[in-house]
Amino acid sequence: MTIAIVSAMHEELAAVLRLLPEEHRQVAAGREFWRGRLHGHEVVVVLSRIGKVAAATTATALIERFGVERIVFTGVAGGLAPGVHVGDVVVADSFLQHDLDASPIFPRYEVPLYGTSRFATDGALTATLAAAARAALPGTALHRGLVVSGDRFVATTVESRALQAALPEALAVEMEGAAIAQVCHDYGVPFAAVRTISDRADDEAHGDFTRFVEEVASRHSAAMVAALLRML
Ligand code: ADE
Repeated sequence: MTIAIVSAMHEELAAVLRLLPEEHRQVAAGREFWRGRLHGHEVVVVLSRIGKVAAATTATALIERFGVERIVFTGVAGGLAPGVHVGDVVVADSFLQHDLDASPIFPRYEVPLYGTSRFATDGALTATLAAAARAALPGTALHRGLVVSGDRFVATTVESRALQAALPEALAVEMEGAAIAQVCHDYGVPFAAVRTISDRADDEAHGDFTRFVEEVASRHSAAMVAALLRML
């Protein structure tokens, strides 16, 4: 059963990519996919690039071209809810697109013609991913719940407060998860996602994000991916 491991940026997955030989690289849909075996599992590792459309293209290619049967995303996010701090880990139970608004034709956030604004992640895969995150990063605060996605890097306290007010359940904000969740819903492919908090999506977000992705993100992702593959 082939598992896809996806991150948006090289910094989020560099340590995992170092484990896969160059000759396993294959280009499809303008992206590089690495096929290989990690911890006893067939894997396809890919960088989606940033944003919802890039993420949707990547998820579709993984399913259609590579026949993956599960997709796991690992990367960073901005913390939104008050108790979600830089360095904490968030495992998504569901995703919503915070920049989707087809009102008054459809309720705000609802994905037109799907009758819902939220797509749940796979229960079993998410539970294993949360256990893997706990094992890989002992002592790190772990949250589970709603993660919101949009084609915006949220980097002002004003915008972050507005998001918190509009969506008080949202733990974190990023730019890809909801798109992959929707593609996986369409194809019936189990999806799980974990995000380490790199910034608080506030006026300090730019500097905090840059420092975090350079220093911590890849190490965290590699530890959690290794723990997950061992547990599956
Ligand atoms: N990913 C990490 N931090 C983020 C932020 N502040 N906004 C959107 N995506 C992010």
